[in-house]
Amino acid sequence: MVAPQHPLIIRIADLHKVYRIGAEKVHALRGMSLEIRRNEFVAIMGASGSGKSTLLNVLGCLDQPTRGVYELAGRPTHRMSVGELSGVRNDLIGFVFQSFELLPRATALKNVQLPLIYSRRYWVGTGARARRALERVGLADRMKHRPNQLSGGQRQRVAIARALVNEPAIILADEPTGNLDSKTGDEIIGLFRQLHAEGQTIIMVTHEEDIAGNAGRIIRLRDGVVMSDHPTEEDPTHQDYVRRALETAQRDAGRAAPGAAP
Ligand SMILES: Nc1ncnc2c1ncn2[C@@H]1O[C@H](COP(=O)(O)OP(=O)(O)OP(=O)(O)O)[C@@H](O)[C@H]1O
Ligand SMILES: [Mg+2]
Repeated sequence: MVAPQHPLIIRIADLHKVYRIGAEKVHALRGMSLEIRRNEFVAIMGASGSGKSTLLNVLGCLDQPTRGVYELAGRPTHRMSVGELSGVRNDLIGFVFQSFELLPRATALKNVQLPLIYSRRYWVGTGARARRALERVGLADRMKHRPNQLSGGQRQRVAIARALVNEPAIILADEPTGNLDSKTGDEIIGLFRQLHAEGQTIIMVTHEEDIAGNAGRIIRLRDGVVMSDHPTEEDPTHQDYVRRALETAQRDAGRAAPGAAP
């Protein structure tokens, strides 16, 4: 059994992922190394095609690296069989996707209950457990709604409840606010911040600098390697963004004020 309490929740070293399509090879991860500790809230950034989703899929045991080391809670997953990996994934990982990925015909409650049915840990009281997860994300009054009867933000809350229901060691989120307007995106980020304050380890891919600013650490990828890795308040690109956003806000406030100098 994996020890979810292990302080170093993720360690990857010289990780490679090569996709093969026919004769063509795509080297999506090119010797990536990083470590993430328990209770961190990490943002992964980088241009389109830099390997963010590939990394998340490997971290989430949805995909196996071509070579290199990946230790999850101290256990070397690169040596695991496909069956072992799916067990580890069910026990330790909660996924949140940009497109929610809910079952359209199932109620919110059923959607959240589903991972428990595959779980080796919880197979009694799954209804009560799913209800508690939905309460935790503020959807106590929407349990019987189907996805098309919910707003985008509510759908993403259902997906987060589904990710939480197994009490995963890590939440992996791939652009969780990418399909949401900025106000709803902020609500979802507020929920992540709350979960992080409660001790949840979160790794989130995002394209948006202001969303990344909610994390404690920003890892930037380029061409399948780590280009930079800083605490958010020490990340030069992020600090530059914050400074410019502040200047813009001050200028707009100056324009809006009656009688202000042009
Ligand atoms: N299943 C796959 N088969 C073949 N190539 C793939 C596959 N998935 C990703 N790739 C390639 O691997 C590289 C990294 O893709 P990845 O999806 O990780 O990028 P990303 O950083 O998540 O980009 P985006 O910001 O657009 O989501 C890309 O060149 C992509 O075309
Ligand atoms: Mg992606």
